[in-house]
Amino acid sequence: MQETTLTVNGKTHTVDVDPATPLLYVLRNDLGLRGPRFGCGLAQCGTCTVLMDGRPIRSCILPVSRTRGEITTLEGLPEDGKLHPVQQAWIEEQVPQCGFCQNGQILTAAALLSNSPNPSDEEIRRGMNPILCRCMTYYRIQSAVKRAATAMAGTSGEEDR
Ligand code: FES
Ligand code: FES
Repeated sequence: MQETTLTVNGKTHTVDVDPATPLLYVLRNDLGLRGPRFGCGLAQCGTCTVLMDGRPIRSCILPVSRTRGEITTLEGLPEDGKLHPVQQAWIEEQVPQCGFCQNGQILTAAALLSNSPNPSDEEIRRGMNPILCRCMTYYRIQSAVKRAATAMAGTSGEEDR
């Protein structure tokens, strides 16, 4: 066991765990954050995705001792008590079916839009491609990413005024 300090969703936590423990287990079991999910455990499906300094990573294979910077989980995405535009778009487009993959889809979409605010269809396909959905919600994901991009463009326009 070893004490490890993590910054998750803006708060600092110290946990006493085996340093080889996957970050996913620490988030779910020690910090009680149930947004990231266990799917394959092999970095294949993406349902365990969290953001590390804004970049999507697979928390099922990252040892907690190698975690750096700020971790954001689905629980940390809303700002000022309001849903992130990606979450809002997901609701408006009624994207989820079983919902199992949607943690990874939403966080990956948020990261994609922060790097590429107006992505083409091809950029969305490529950017979202590593996250598997057994319910085949891919077309609705594409629509929701576009809807979120439009909403975010409107918001930044308001801020510029
Ligand atoms: S559970 Fe991590 S990629 Fe599948
Ligand atoms: S919504 Fe069921 S796996 Fe994606």
